[in-house]
Amino acid sequence: MLLATGATVLARYFLPLDMHWGSLWLGLFCAISLAVQVVEAKQVARLVEWLRTPDATLPTRLSAQWIELATYVIRQRRKHKDRLAHSDKRLEDFLAAMQASPNGVVLLDADDRIEWFNQTAAEHFDFDPRRDAQQHFTNLVRDPIIAAYFAARDFQHSVLIAGRSPGRSSAQRISVQLHVYGQSRSLLLSRDVTAIEQAEAMRRDFVANVSHEIRTPLTVLGGFVETLQTLQLSDEEQVRYLDLMSQQASRMQSLVDDLLTLSKLEGSPFPAEHGWIRVGSLMRQCADEGRALSNLVWGNAQAIHVDVDADDEIAGSETELHSALFNLVGNAVRYTPADKSIRVTWSRDASGQGALTVTDQGIGIAPEHIPRLTERFYRVDRSRSRETGGTGLGLAIVKHVLQRHDAELKIESTPGSGSSFRMVLPAHRVRAEATRSAALVKHD
Ligand SMILES: Nc1ncnc2c1ncn2[C@@H]1O[C@H](COP(=O)(O)OP(=O)(O)O)[C@@H](O)[C@H]1O
Ligand SMILES: [Mg+2]
Repeated sequence: MLLATGATVLARYFLPLDMHWGSLWLGLFCAISLAVQVVEAKQVARLVEWLRTPDATLPTRLSAQWIELATYVIRQRRKHKDRLAHSDKRLEDFLAAMQASPNGVVLLDADDRIEWFNQTAAEHFDFDPRRDAQQHFTNLVRDPIIAAYFAARDFQHSVLIAGRSPGRSSAQRISVQLHVYGQSRSLLLSRDVTAIEQAEAMRRDFVANVSHEIRTPLTVLGGFVETLQTLQLSDEEQVRYLDLMSQQASRMQSLVDDLLTLSKLEGSPFPAEHGWIRVGSLMRQCADEGRALSNLVWGNAQAIHVDVDADDEIAGSETELHSALFNLVGNAVRYTPADKSIRVTWSRDASGQGALTVTDQGIGIAPEHIPRLTERFYRVDRSRSRETGGTGLGLAIVKHVLQRHDAELKIESTPGSGSSFRMVLPAHRVRAEATRSAALVKHD
């Protein structure tokens, strides 16, 4: 308004009198809109400058509509920032989940170049996170199986390759499979299958061993049956043959019994730590059974001494500990000549550990066999073991029972003069006589 009045006064004063009032108002209008445009342009320039400069404060002296626009921009900017932060967080979470995967994960682009990999994959393929990103996978993992797998581009199945984990002494087997996703990107998963392969090999060996062990007595039995069917035998001969057949049948029976014991051990819950067993009576019972076995094997009972001066107790499963101790006594009986003796001892050391030891004066064992004795079906002398009714599973059962009782088997032996098998139980599974009496008094 002020501007318009001023312009009118100036126009009256300076302009020639004959000039038309219409032209004057037109000039005035142009001057005002020019001024307004200049002001607007300045505001827009300030606004653009503000938009260009990150984190700048909103310029002052803006008209209402520009402030409204700027507020809208601020709101949109904040929303966008929040959305970015949210998706960054999600990406981080996602990568952290992939990092935590027990499998190796490698992300490859359309040209099989490595975009990202987790720590497990770095171990499987010996990748270096700083050096190996953006490298071609097949250039880094130089293996003919991988080269053929990538060349065929048939990723329906996985392939097995040798692992490259640095500092590993034993052979490692890695299973690798590629999964294509999106626009020809791919996700490569790797898995350490060494243990599975070993277990599978052990299972195959075990089945082969069991079949072999059962087939032998079955063949012998079959032979005898055929003989009895085809030959006219005297009564004496018949008795002898039936006796031999019964031996083969009981051999199969022992094998099946031991296999069942092993499978029970594998499938049952761990023994309690508070089922207390009197060690003296366990030893005496096993010694009695040992004498009976000795009679059966040798025709006369070997001397079996039991040394237990304290009425201590051990915690665990009575059936399992009985089976372990009887296996050791049984071995001592079978691998010791008839005229020699066997000793079953209990001792407790200062730390509270207890040891059940079976010592014999038998044939002994050469040192190279000792580490392998607890393997299933491992025998030093196969025929001697069989002759005396061994299954080759006894010490495997002992080892299993001891593992379930946090205990250990220690073997010492001198070929020709005898062996000692010691089952060492931890202090928490041993209760000394005195402690036990005190506990009983407390209970009363
Ligand atoms: N007290 C021992 N003296 C000598 N050798 C033994 C003794 N105990 C075990 N062995 C050896 O360890 C092998 C494995 O023992 P075990 O697992 O009990 O199977 P087996 O049924 O043959 O006795 C036996 O075949 C035998 O060669
Ligand atoms: Mg045995």
